[in-house]
Amino acid sequence: MLKLATDRLYMRPPQMDDAAVITAALSHYEVAKNLAFVPHPYALEDAVVWLEKQPALAHPYDQKFAIFTHEDEFCGMTGFTHKGDLPSLGYYLHPDAWGKGVMTEANWALIKWLFDGPGAPKIVSGVFDYNVASFRVQQKLGFQTVGQSVMQSLAQNKEFAHIDTELTKDAFEKAAPNLAALRNET
Ligand SMILES: CC(C)(COP(=O)(O)OP(=O)(O)OC[C@H]1O[C@@H](n2cnc3c(N)ncnc32)[C@H](O)[C@@H]1OP(=O)(O)O)[C@@H](O)C(=O)NCCC(=O)NCCS
Repeated sequence: MLKLATDRLYMRPPQMDDAAVITAALSHYEVAKNLAFVPHPYALEDAVVWLEKQPALAHPYDQKFAIFTHEDEFCGMTGFTHKGDLPSLGYYLHPDAWGKGVMTEANWALIKWLFDGPGAPKIVSGVFDYNVASFRVQQKLGFQTVGQSVMQSLAQNKEFAHIDTELTKDAFEKAAPNLAALRNET
């Protein structure tokens, strides 16, 4: 099985057994409201339907990873979705895992896996313009702002200004060559 690991975390493709912990995380309005396609309230059936669509081994630009501590505590999810010809990065954590550098560390491992392995000309992403924590995660990893758009938040049933971002391999290696450098900068 595809597995990525860092000092504190490991990541593997999501499995049907994860439905309950995914539901527990995405049921929090504070999580769902920052994501484009997550309804609120969020039911176990929503997680099951999503998991049914996730092959164990996807195209790299569609590969998702469930994030766990080495003590097997579920933290959240990160991964790519094909957007045009590029991988689009999206992620969330259960609120209990916020504020500890978990998402910066998980995304660092994910992005390193993509650029060092399958490769990609660049990664696209973005944040609702009020999402300071997520924007900071992306800044630490080297993402650059490339534009502004408007995007729907399904949970809020409302459109918001969205900051569009991109990351090249060069920018990633300059900003976050390894985890130690990333931590020294934070
Ligand atoms: C956004 C999210 C993934 C961040 O995860 P995290 O593990 O807490 O992030 P990290 O700890 O790695 O980094 C967060 C950074 O933002 C900073 N930050 C957090 N809240 C902030 C705020 N209100 N104002 C300014 N900075 C803030 C932190 O200080 C940290 O920066 P630092 O390392 O320079 O101190 C998490 O909050 C989450 O899942 N939110 C809900 C879903 C979501 O927003 N997903 C992303 C959609 S684009």
